[in-house]
Amino acid sequence: MLTDLAEWKALENKREAMDEWTLRSAFAENPHRVSEFSLKACGINFDFSKHLIDDEVRQLLLELARTRRVAEGIQAMFRGERINVTENRSVLHTALRKPKSDVLEIDGIDVVQDVHAVLANMKTFAEKIRSGDFVGSTGKPITRIVNIGIGGSDLGPVMAFEALRAFSQRNLSFAFVSNVDASDMAEALVNSDPETTLFIVASKTFTTAETMTNASTAKQWLAKALGDQFRSDRHFAALSTNATLVAEFGISSENVFGFWDWVGGRFSMDSAIGLSTMIAIGPSGFDDLLAGFHDMDEYFVHEPAETNVVYLMALLSIWYRNFFGCQSHAVLPYDNYLKRFPAYLQQMLMESNGKSVMLDGLPVEVETSPVYWGEPGTNGQHSFHQLLHQGTSVVPVDFLVGISPVHDLGSHHDLLLSNVLAQASVLAFGKNADEVAADGTREDLVPHKVMPGNRPSTLIMYPQLSPRVLGQLVALYEHITLVQGLIWGIGSFDQWGVELGKTVANAITPTLSSGDTSALDPSTAAAVELIRSHRSSQK
Ligand code: F6P
Repeated sequence: MLTDLAEWKALENKREAMDEWTLRSAFAENPHRVSEFSLKACGINFDFSKHLIDDEVRQLLLELARTRRVAEGIQAMFRGERINVTENRSVLHTALRKPKSDVLEIDGIDVVQDVHAVLANMKTFAEKIRSGDFVGSTGKPITRIVNIGIGGSDLGPVMAFEALRAFSQRNLSFAFVSNVDASDMAEALVNSDPETTLFIVASKTFTTAETMTNASTAKQWLAKALGDQFRSDRHFAALSTNATLVAEFGISSENVFGFWDWVGGRFSMDSAIGLSTMIAIGPSGFDDLLAGFHDMDEYFVHEPAETNVVYLMALLSIWYRNFFGCQSHAVLPYDNYLKRFPAYLQQMLMESNGKSVMLDGLPVEVETSPVYWGEPGTNGQHSFHQLLHQGTSVVPVDFLVGISPVHDLGSHHDLLLSNVLAQASVLAFGKNADEVAADGTREDLVPHKVMPGNRPSTLIMYPQLSPRVLGQLVALYEHITLVQGLIWGIGSFDQWGVELGKTVANAITPTLSSGDTSALDPSTAAAVELIRSHRSSQK
């Protein structure tokens, strides 16, 4: 049992012994704390000094990683072993960014050459769109790209587009449709001209109900608007592992970009699923993005665990989740371009590690993934930071900020930087009652103004947001996901928990119009009846 391990017990004891431990005294006692708890990876600075740890905690966490054979697990993933055991698949998103000169054979096939063959086709296609050579059915250049996908087939593309908007070709416009709610597609179509719109249908399986429904609606919209002139090959591309279903949908094979079952949906933004990103930032920008991913892969596998930021971030999340009972973790980018980064990470971390069963099928013994959430700073400061500072729960925070701005507009960036530094400082050191009173605060207000402090955060400062830095940051969290899963002993690469809801929805859909509802649970059946009676009263 995980909880029987000597390292686990030592961490529990250490946690108890730290009840009175404060960051204030830790900093006061050790003038070298910042340098001792700061690391650099791929040019990104990580300050871990404001965490509720001392060197003993760090060592115990590293010992836990050793006992859980994390290093062996990492090697197994990179080698292409079938570590996704419930689906009998390799987990090889790291192969998507290997240089062309590398070789990685899986079942006798060099997957690196396959990856680069698809990349070459994507580049030709992306360049045709960017140059205006790719024209719609009526001969006008495509200028509007609508990515239709959901989950990993949406969150990566939309996050990357928003993050790298400053690097995008501005005469092209982009929309991302994911929700089966017709409002999503309807709004995307408002600003789309059928003659100049390309739909990219992104779906690993090409069976996902939301995506197939949206893709069919797009096809009808085009057919209605363009009539006899409509040519599918001028308005549709597909990104999928399922060539058969793509062909059945009627997407011409030269517009199809494949990938492989060893790329998980939530780890696929640097596969063919990144076609919209490549069209936006161009093939060379996409190469930079891939280089960033690869930088972090190399760092992760070669840097010793003791000084490896991936290990430390993953182990800190274990420390807070399992020894402090923290239920959530905030990711707060002080970089407006990263506004969808927390949403992207939610799928990556929670679909991977929100599990209650271990790889061997036995129930997990400890809590697994916390809830990840976040919004860009400084907006969050005027909203939920109150809870971060004075709420009853401790929420560990990752602060992300570029040292240089993408846009240098007067004083903006200094204000942004000073705010992120202030938030991290106030969380850590707070303000006690004596200090509040010393400001001349009215006595009855003192308790309201006390800031408890001792609230942990990592300050992640990168030089400036760019495709390469984005790749590094995404790969950082991908590998944190892996290390967490290895410690907890869970399978991070399947997602069985999302399946039952799909099956039940399929069973409910026909009952909304007519038929027997007796197979539904009573509450659902009552809701269906209410919908039906509302509908008949509207006729
Ligand atoms: O339902 C969950 C899920 O399978 C995700 O893991 C995946 O990213 C998403 O659906 C979309 O799947 P697909 O790319 O096959 O449409």
